Amino acid sequence: MAGWKGRPKEFKQLWDYSVGFYGVWVAHIGRSVGLLQHIAHSPASAAGLAAKLGLDAGAVGAWCSAAVALGLIGERKGKLRMSARMKEILLDAKSPNYLGGQFSYLAMRSLEYRGLEDLFNSGKTLDMSSTFDAIEQATDWDHNAFLSAIKKGRSRRLHAMLSKGCRVLDVGCGTGTLIEKLWRSYPRSAFVGVEPSEVAVHRAMEVAAGKPVEILRLQGEAMNFDGQFDIVYLGESLYAASDKQAVVSNCYRALKKGGAIAIVEGLLPKTASKEGRLIIGMQLDFALQGYRFMTKEETGALLRNAGFSKVAFSDFGGSLFLVSAWKI
Ligand SMILES: C[S@@+](CC[C@H](N)C(=O)[O-])C[C@H]1O[C@@H](n2cnc3c(N)ncnc32)[C@H](O)[C@@H]1O
Repeated sequence: MAGWKGRPKEFKQLWDYSVGFYGVWVAHIGRSVGLLQHIAHSPASAAGLAAKLGLDAGAVGAWCSAAVALGLIGERKGKLRMSARMKEILLDAKSPNYLGGQFSYLAMRSLEYRGLEDLFNSGKTLDMSSTFDAIEQATDWDHNAFLSAIKKGRSRRLHAMLSKGCRVLDVGCGTGTLIEKLWRSYPRSAFVGVEPSEVAVHRAMEVAAGKPVEILRLQGEAMNFDGQFDIVYLGESLYAASDKQAVVSNCYRALKKGGAIAIVEGLLPKTASKEGRLIIGMQLDFALQGYRFMTKEETGALLRNAGFSKVAFSDFGGSLFLVSAWKI
């Protein structure tokens, strides 16, 4: 067989996975060294970019031709430029079409994947604490999707409670990036973040300084709050808890009557649709950390067993859901 023609469609499908691998890395490195932001701001030549950003000219030249070939940027009259749609997808964290953070998560997390062989050979897992930079990139999208959903979706009551001023508990708050966003949008509310990782708590405390925010180093299973909060939020943290029912029951106890729980989490689809393929592939990433995704059914059962009512699922796309329920 000569050349490209005549190859089976399966070959072309799998070939595209290799191209996608470079697409992820070209997007990530372009964001992290500022090339994409610079091009988005003002069209420039490869040499001009290298000089302006103080980067290695050879590396920038290779990146530019890869980014053009992969369709991330275009070139006209010797200047590299970016379409409005690409700016939105790669750089605008508030857009529902934002993929930049996901690409950065994938690239940064993949640095840990050398541990996969150990996982298969001896079951050894690697905890997530070395990858909070990657987590911040991925959860930016979750946070903005949540903030926009409560402003206009079925969960508008949460927006009303936060606007008026209420007490919020963020369980598994990580480095405090959601609390920071909530505090900026809802300055009348007060926040408590609970987080077991020392690295994350340290960063969250820096975010909390000078704000109505308290950060406690604690696992969700060990929380002992009683009727103190109006909203409990769990952002991609329930999957990581070893005793999920204890965490959800502690959240129920922590809430005042009339309070709500909001869980933002990837939930495993029953069938492998095109949209569901990412989360299904990502199971390997989670297995390396000793975790697994839950299903809608498992999450609903945890909430009902704890005493919650009115369990509702809002689909954010890409298998990410807002699961809300009330203590009535
Ligand atoms: C993917 S990160 C999400 C962080 C944050 N909620 C966000 O949305 O950016 C998951 C977090 O859950 C925390 N976590 C792990 N086990 C936990 C447990 N048993 N109770 C509470 N948090 C836990 C991790 O340390 C980590 O910070």
